[in-house]
Amino acid sequence: KEIVVSGIRPTGYLHLGNYFGAIRNYIRMQEDFNCYFFVADWHSLTTHPDPKDLKGNVMRVLAENIASGLDPEKVTLYAQSDIPEVAELYLYMNMLAYMGELEKVPTFKDKVRQQPQNVNAGLLTYPVLMSVDILIQRAVKVPVGKDQGQHLEMARNYAQRFNNRYGELFPEPVAFNYGDNLVRILSLDGNGGKMSKSENEMATIYLSDSDEKIINKLKKAKTDSGAPGEPMSESVQNLITLMKLVSAPDTVKFFEDAHAAGTIRYGDMKGQLGADMVKFIAPIRDKAAELQRDTTYLEKIMKAGAEKARANAAQTLQQARKLIGFNYY
Ligand code: TYM
Repeated sequence: KEIVVSGIRPTGYLHLGNYFGAIRNYIRMQEDFNCYFFVADWHSLTTHPDPKDLKGNVMRVLAENIASGLDPEKVTLYAQSDIPEVAELYLYMNMLAYMGELEKVPTFKDKVRQQPQNVNAGLLTYPVLMSVDILIQRAVKVPVGKDQGQHLEMARNYAQRFNNRYGELFPEPVAFNYGDNLVRILSLDGNGGKMSKSENEMATIYLSDSDEKIINKLKKAKTDSGAPGEPMSESVQNLITLMKLVSAPDTVKFFEDAHAAGTIRYGDMKGQLGADMVKFIAPIRDKAAELQRDTTYLEKIMKAGAEKARANAAQTLQQARKLIGFNYY
């Protein structure tokens, strides 16, 4: 079976962007691939989270993943920080990563804008660490949203660079989505930004939101309309995308046709989407809350996952060390 790796940072409740960009693919892939899914707790340190919050945040991501349909018997679930081999390979890979290329990465430039008081070296080398998460398991497919596409390109570069310098070790991984194009869910405020954890609360729908919140947020979602016959605005397109994911095909077609005819009533559309979204999220939310209370169960899964992921990573690392020339004794 082909190896698959993907990670999610434990920086807040998961939202629809995470679900439809990543987790939805995880659930399908678990049947056909050898999947390694992890909580990227090292990556979350770039924003200096409070140590008191770390465990709860990691457990919650795990619970939300399992509640969404990941089967711990089928996939390997673990925390990044349980795989110290990643840190060692990251050191080696940093020697092949250039300041110039790292400084140009759009996600780095965004961070410099967002947190000018904390432009740490970990932010700069974030894509190197991410590449190593993937390469150390020798993954070939990486289910992610569109915002991670460029990081995957870098992972391929680092794989090549290592292979060219030291000898063939890493396959070149590609970003993966079952719908082909990588998904980008927009925030509901109509500003064109992606839905994100740090976004204003009303513009992001979380898997933990109450029914009332889901309905209310969708009711308030931006739908600046054009004249009849004009192409859909980005924000309406985004709602249709969400509708395609949770509503019946007939329902989607009804509103698409109404839009084309210029007779669409956005209030009705958002009401329908709200009802369908509640049906979709409620069972995940309730299951996640239940799982989150069972820390013994989650810890057991994390430990078993770490053991398996570590064993696989250790094999890769051993070969990397040999190729680099660390065979002194
Ligand atoms: P993170 O934690 O920001 O997001 C987790 C996953 O959710 C996807 N995603 C979205 N997809 C579509 N629309 C959105 N609005 C949206 N927001 C988030 C992300 O693309 C991602 O798939 N760097 C990664 C974590 C990571 C990783 C890795 C991923 C670390 N190492 C190795 C894959 C492989 C990140 O910050 O994701």
